[in-house]
Formats: sequence, C-alpha cells, structure tokens
Amino acid sequence: MRNKTAIISGGAQGIGKAITKRLIEDGYFVVIADINLENEKLLVKELGSGKFLFIKCDISNQEDVESLFSKVKSERESINAVVNNAGIIKDNVIWKMPKEDMDKVIDVNLKGTWMMCKEAAKVMRKQNNGRIVNISSRAWLGNNRGQSNYTASKAGIIGLTRVLALELGKYNVNVNAVAPGLIDTPLTKNLPKKVIEKLIEAQPTKKIGKPKDIANVVSFLLSDESDFITGQIIHVDGGRSIGSTIF
Ligand SMILES: NC(=O)c1ccc[n+]([C@@H]2O[C@H](COP(=O)([O-])OP(=O)(O)OC[C@H]3O[C@@H](n4cnc5c(N)ncnc54)[C@H](O)[C@@H]3O)[C@@H](O)[C@H]2O)c1
Repeated sequence: MRNKTAIISGGAQGIGKAITKRLIEDGYFVVIADINLENEKLLVKELGSGKFLFIKCDISNQEDVESLFSKVKSERESINAVVNNAGIIKDNVIWKMPKEDMDKVIDVNLKGTWMMCKEAAKVMRKQNNGRIVNISSRAWLGNNRGQSNYTASKAGIIGLTRVLALELGKYNVNVNAVAPGLIDTPLTKNLPKKVIEKLIEAQPTKKIGKPKDIANVVSFLLSDESDFITGQIIHVDGGRSIGSTIF
C-alpha cells in the first residue's frame, strides 16, 4: 500500500519521467499531471499499473489545476509532495520574439508553477505537512542569449520559491528549487549539435547531465534527510553556474 502521495507536473517524459520513476521507487503513489496523454500507455508498460495515476492537466489553465487538486484530495488521504517540473522553451532574441512567445512561456513556466504552488499550499498548510520542489533552470542566472522569456520565468520561480518558504515554514512545509544545467531530454534533443557542444564546453565537468541526476536531488529534498533545508536553490549543472573563466 502506497500511502504517501506526490503530484508531479510534466511527469510523463524527460526529467519529469525520471522523477516519477524515482518517487515510485521511494514508495510514493505518483500523480502525473501532464498534457501529453500519448506517454500514458508507455509509462504503464514501463512502470507497471497501480503505482501512478495520469491526469490530463495543462498547468497554465486554472480550472485544470484546481480540478487536479480536488480529484487528488478526494482520492488520497494526503498530498505529501508536489514537484513543479513542467516547462517549455520558445527561444529567440528579443527583437525577433513575438509577444505570444513571452506570454506562453510565462503562462506555463511561471504562472503555472504559481497556481500549482497555491493549490499545494492550501492543502499542505491544513495538513501541517508537505514538501514542494520547483524545477527552475541554471538559465535563471541570465547567461543564455535568446532566452529572455525563459530566463524571466525561471528567475521568477526562484523568487516564488523563497517567498513560499517564508510563508509556509511554520506549517512544516519546505519549499526548494532545483536549477538543472544541460540535461539529455527530448527538450534538448532538438537543439543544434553545435549549441550542445558549446554548452558542454562551458561546463567545468565537460558533460551533459542525465534526468536521473535531477531525480536524485528531488528525492533528497522530499525526504526527511533534508528537513532543515528550505528556500534554497540547488544547482545541478556540472558546475556551469560557477561562471566562465579566461584562465
Ligand atoms: N533539459 C534541460 O536541459 C533542462 C535544463 C534546465 C531546466 N530544465 C527544466 O526542467 C523541466 C523539464 O524539462 P525536460 O527537459 O524534461 O522537458 P521535456 O520537454 O522533455 O518534458 C516536459 C514535460 O512537461 C509537459 N508539459 C509541457 N507543457 C505542459 C503544461 N502546460 N502542463 C502540463 N505539462 C506540460 C510535457 O508534455 C512533457 O511531458 C522544465 O521545467 C525545464 O525548463 C530542463
């Protein structure tokens, strides 16, 4: 019987899928909130049935998010963990970026995460227990040209995480952010080879991360071992956030 429940947005592929797998291994019943229903059957094959539930949910849609939480509340005893992982990119230099691409990225990455956090906070505050992990990006630091929209959304997630840690600390709810560097997922598969090579070169460890590298840290942040950690940003980026050097 899995009596701990975790909700993960975008849990059907890439980093989210690795987190889903890891949380199942950690004994959670996992609710995957994703827009991509195609992966549901594949996940049942891979992970087995009875360990997770797939709910179609666009995190940028308020009704979807509210109905996700009310369904999970009605079916599960408690909601112990929420991982806000769903995110998109729509890159371009600002003078070529249509406003729609700014709106969309902010709607999903920032407002979507905010709405998920709001619903999570309502439940966890009452439970006097819970953990929230928000997936930001190393890009929040602002060192990628062409990502003004994405960087604004991911920097926003850092601010959101810190304020929520303040607001929810006394209710026994820890809120942290993970900021991944370059990770091998369907999102990054489409990047031109040259860009990938440059990004790897910019990392002190000279390698691309695996989705599992992020899942391991999320698992730790949801465990009792991290009880005294809140409001923090954990960079999991092969050292890229240290910055570049000319020597
Ligand atoms: N891959 C990287 O190098 C990298 C680096 C830094 C940060 N990140 C962040 O990690 C997270 C996951 O990235 P990934 O590489 O696994 O991406 P991905 O594109 O491989 O997977 C994203 C998942 O989110 C889902 N999703 C997209 N929009 C959604 C919405 N509106 N509502 C619900 N689900 C939605 C997709 O269907 C998909 O299953 C994102 O927030 C991304 O910004 C990724």
